[in-house]
Amino acid sequence: MDKLIVHGGHKLSGSVNISGAKNASLPILAAALLTEEDVIIRRVPDVSDTNYMIQILSALGAEVERSSGTVRVNSANITHDAPYELVRKMRASICVMGPLLARLGKARVSLPGGCVIGDRPVDLHLKGLKAIGTEIDMEGGNMDMTTPNGLTGAEVDLRGKNGPTVLGTDNLMMAAVLAKGTTVIESAAAEPEVVDLANFLIGMGAKISGAGTSRITIEGVEKLHGTEHTIIPDRIEAGTFMVAGAMAAGEEGITLHRICKEHLVPVTEKLIEAGHQVQFNDAGTSVTVAPGKHPQGAKIITAPHPGFPTDMQAQFSSLFAVTKGISVIEDTIFPQRFMHCAEMSRMGANIKVDNGTAVIEGVEKLSAAPVMASDLRASAALVLSALTAEGSTEINRLYHIDRGYEHIDEKLLTLGARLERVRE
Ligand code: EPZ
Repeated sequence: MDKLIVHGGHKLSGSVNISGAKNASLPILAAALLTEEDVIIRRVPDVSDTNYMIQILSALGAEVERSSGTVRVNSANITHDAPYELVRKMRASICVMGPLLARLGKARVSLPGGCVIGDRPVDLHLKGLKAIGTEIDMEGGNMDMTTPNGLTGAEVDLRGKNGPTVLGTDNLMMAAVLAKGTTVIESAAAEPEVVDLANFLIGMGAKISGAGTSRITIEGVEKLHGTEHTIIPDRIEAGTFMVAGAMAAGEEGITLHRICKEHLVPVTEKLIEAGHQVQFNDAGTSVTVAPGKHPQGAKIITAPHPGFPTDMQAQFSSLFAVTKGISVIEDTIFPQRFMHCAEMSRMGANIKVDNGTAVIEGVEKLSAAPVMASDLRASAALVLSALTAEGSTEINRLYHIDRGYEHIDEKLLTLGARLERVRE
């Protein structure tokens, strides 16, 4: 139950490296189950979510070795039963379903429970897996899955009420790579993390085309082999630090290395629209962000990639809370994902949340208060607010931020922030 004490008002400067993407690492670690040969994955961030996934792979019988950011996995001898004790800790564990079904023809995974960011059913995952021949028995909170006639390719539309599903697309793609015949996923998610998974699978010998578009075609193959892969940069971690630069950097700004410009287009456009300075190097692998001279509010409507990512809306609410004028944030993917707003109001922010939309009237400055993190991105937003607040803010339940940000306190200290982690 660590907490973070952030002493606000210190200008940031200098540079940091961005880590590998958590949301690419999780499905790619699960996909290692698809072959009995060695798989080497580089730039896996040291965050609790990747550690959970590694524990799940080990519990399924895979051999897993980790040395700093490199993970070796060998899944020669695995079972199909993912333990509830581990799966309940992380929703993304659900992406072992596809690989287990493809490799073993069966899987036993517990149904994910509730989530603070909102309603997160798995009906689209099940729709996709059923369409290619999976039978599913729900019992005791578990999904018992079998493929009595093996998996056979089919055409499936994965559009849901809030658009495509990222992990649902991943699960079906991973199940279809060893199925008989061809699978076509319509309304597929096109996030960069889906493309990174597809590239990893292609490296193992899979036949996939169209990743990054809304139509993905997978031609099943007999067997997959080992491979080596380097995870893409984490665009959400990069986006979070870009907002830190706009909110708290000195005139020189802060520089982030090991980023991918192409993945940051919606965040970059919104920061520039809000009056801040964003400068990439020619290669598009580093970016410098500094506060603008005339910052202004803006309107954000989240959408599936390449739209504005829901995983960045909380961080922008921190920026807009101290930006003169009215800003509006509508989250169309997780309409209830505004837990951070009540905590920021405790620091003096003026935010009204109603029906999936936050209306933010900027104030001069926030003031420090003890606040509670509720989920990963909400905790990042509280850290950003604390960086510019008057006084020392205490952020509790830090374990939320450790789920997806690698050593965030050390990186902020490198940039000149004043803070300390307090172990409890
Ligand atoms: C992924 O979650 C990310 N997680 C989330 O990031 C991210 O917020 C989300 O995609 C959207 O971009 C990982 O990659 C590990 P979805 P996922 O299925 O795949 C509805 C973070 O902060 N839906 O794309 O679980 C769902 O309720 C995390 O790093 C169904 O209706 O999200 C939501 O409204 C949080 N039925 C929408 O689709 C389904 O079967 C998109 O969810 C599945 C989803």
